[in-house]
Amino acid sequence: MNRREFNSVLIGSVAASLAPLRLEAQTAPRVNSTRLNGHLTALSEFGKNPQGGVSRVAYSDADRAGRAAVMDWMRAARLDPKVDVAGNIMATRAGSTPALKPILFGSHIDSVPEGGNFDGDVGSLAAIEIAQTFAEHGVVTRHPLQIVIWQNEEGGLYGSRAVSGQLTADELKNVSTSGKTIADGIRFIGGDPSRIGEARRTKGDIAAYFELHIEQGGLLEAAKLNIGIVEGIVGIQQWEATVSGFANHAGTTPMDQRHDALLSAARFVDMVNRVVRSVPGRQVGTVGRIQAFPGAPNVIPGQVTCTLELRDLDDAKIARLYAQIRDEATKISAQNQTTFAFRSLHVNTAAPSDPAMRAIIGDGAKALGLTSQVMPSGAGHDAQAMAQIGPMGMIFIPSIGGISHSPKEFSRPDDIANGANVLLATVLAADQKLS
Ligand code: GLV
Ligand code: MN
Ligand code: MN
Repeated sequence: MNRREFNSVLIGSVAASLAPLRLEAQTAPRVNSTRLNGHLTALSEFGKNPQGGVSRVAYSDADRAGRAAVMDWMRAARLDPKVDVAGNIMATRAGSTPALKPILFGSHIDSVPEGGNFDGDVGSLAAIEIAQTFAEHGVVTRHPLQIVIWQNEEGGLYGSRAVSGQLTADELKNVSTSGKTIADGIRFIGGDPSRIGEARRTKGDIAAYFELHIEQGGLLEAAKLNIGIVEGIVGIQQWEATVSGFANHAGTTPMDQRHDALLSAARFVDMVNRVVRSVPGRQVGTVGRIQAFPGAPNVIPGQVTCTLELRDLDDAKIARLYAQIRDEATKISAQNQTTFAFRSLHVNTAAPSDPAMRAIIGDGAKALGLTSQVMPSGAGHDAQAMAQIGPMGMIFIPSIGGISHSPKEFSRPDDIANGANVLLATVLAADQKLS
């Protein structure tokens, strides 16, 4: 009997009284920090930008090449990666009790334009590193394990929302940052948008989902803590607003006879900031992209498109703020003889993490001698889509200076290894506790 088979017998058929002892966080195998951090450095070559980060937006050539490298590292970890119809990379590691639903863990490797080397990459490569560590130590879990690299997280959780059933057919027509539509992008990375419904899973199809991620804020570093245990992830809603006026000659049209769409948009930007700040709480609102047409110095802009994004842990609060913004936009239109039309781009539902998964993460951190605190996530994550179909837990590690979505994003190699070891301990503890 080889070591793998021996462990399978040990964990699969010898009573649970023996197995948990072997798998306590203190005695569990540890990840290879040098290999994990080496993979992070290697991945940062794909889409490398002159500022020291990456521009690896979903469906770009760099994204596709980075995904190929990640699949090679999966194979080295004795996994057999497959691309699902939604374009997600998935690899299953068999468990000793096939009837059990899989425990999923992973993250994403696409970036924002001019992004950093840690957002998504840490959780993705840590998941692969854990599979490799398990392979090297002959660990066989009861549950099947599924290592997942979600596609197009930054554009709006497209891969994970296809799996949670929240992606609408209409959204496949959205144009991604790469310039390709979502449907074309999915085809470009090996998926099949015409069969996207087949990616869908429903409640009870997964035993649990875990994700390791950089904090992307400065709380952990300021408090000198090793680990954040995410209590919940903000809901995010994005819209495209189209402001219509009338394009006319910038020299001959008097100031009181203009239907200037950009002037309305400027007032809109200011108003969004005012409305979002007018109520207490941690809600945020952003106009992040704006384009004026026809876009010439000597033409009054006849049309403007801009985005609106609102985030909060309470989806109802987002809805209230949006209603108020729509009312205020109508007033701006009236003053300025323009019109506003809004189109929903996508919705990420706010998601609390599962209290039992939080406890497992906290116990794992403690057993490894690491300090931790429970905290919210102001950034969106694929974990919030997975929370729709199973218990979800998320682990944060410090981001130096609280900087993210920037080439200056940085997390220390030791913190990355700590986070990966907490995730490893969490997966093993969940494997024992869940049935
Ligand atoms: C994803 O990183 C987001 O929060 O937008
Ligand atoms: Mn991310
Ligand atoms: Mn991000």
